[in-house]
Amino acid sequence: MTAKIKVLMDCDPGHDDAFALIVAAKFAEVLGVTTVAGNAPLSHTTKNARIILDLCGSNAPLHSGASRPLVAEPIHAAYIHGESGMDGANLPEPSRPADGTNAVYFIIDTVRANPGLWLVPTGPLTNIALALRAAPDLVDKISGISIMGGGRFGNRTATAEFNIWCDPEAAAAVFDSGAKIIMSGLHLTHQIMANPKRIEMVRAAHAIVGPMLAGLLEFFSKMYKSLHDDFEGAPLHDVCAVLALTHPQLFTSKETHVAVELDGSHTRGMTVIDDRHVKSRTKANTQVLETIDADAAFAVIVDAVSSCVKS
Ligand code: RIB
Ligand code: CA
Repeated sequence: MTAKIKVLMDCDPGHDDAFALIVAAKFAEVLGVTTVAGNAPLSHTTKNARIILDLCGSNAPLHSGASRPLVAEPIHAAYIHGESGMDGANLPEPSRPADGTNAVYFIIDTVRANPGLWLVPTGPLTNIALALRAAPDLVDKISGISIMGGGRFGNRTATAEFNIWCDPEAAAAVFDSGAKIIMSGLHLTHQIMANPKRIEMVRAAHAIVGPMLAGLLEFFSKMYKSLHDDFEGAPLHDVCAVLALTHPQLFTSKETHVAVELDGSHTRGMTVIDDRHVKSRTKANTQVLETIDADAAFAVIVDAVSSCVKS
């Protein structure tokens, strides 16, 4: 039995963040969870993170972090996730508040105490950028950063994906940091959607938690389908950043250079992925995930749901 990969989750729950936490709790060793404003204000994402950790029986330390981006004005995503950030189910109240309110110090201390861990950000990259700026030694102490963000097209704009668009300065600092990066962009995450059949698989996976999580997916998918032409359900974006580490066999990928645009009128927050076949292209800094075996990945998600312990 190989040892579980050690991860520190940085998230903005968020419906898909919730499933990322559940999968990480089952298949990784979660050394800690930090929260950031993004899908909803920090107070909401932190409360939601605690609720999900309760549902999956995780005692991982929870620390809240940045309530706003480095430079950009804070903008949330109630149009997709609802006012709470995780609408759609009658969820239990959180068992307790966060264990701390300084995610950046917690990230630095946890990495220094556990060299080799992976940082897994599934929201705006503000906390990660602040930690790397305050402690540049982290780059050589972590195994890498598995990011949900960016892609070959956008969702918040035609070119920018929400997590990167929220805090482009933070994203640029992370992609330029020299750390090993695995990127789950939209061109990948749109391959794994919560269609009705899969939602029923989640509902049936656990007597207590299954119906709650199915309710979250129904809400998330209803919002996505109301805003898109041809979606069969909501993409489970953030889970990909965890599965990339716990189940790498489910993916294909390519190493290339990724930069974050900060200044374009139409392209601020765009991840510029260098797909050229020229010898002169910039040295690769990112493993860009290209395809996922969605059915196999969803079976892993259902397995993780079945292991939730909330009775
Ligand atoms: O664009 C998708 C990303 O934005 C996901 O992380 C989702 O949770 C939202 O934060
Ligand atoms: Ca997220």
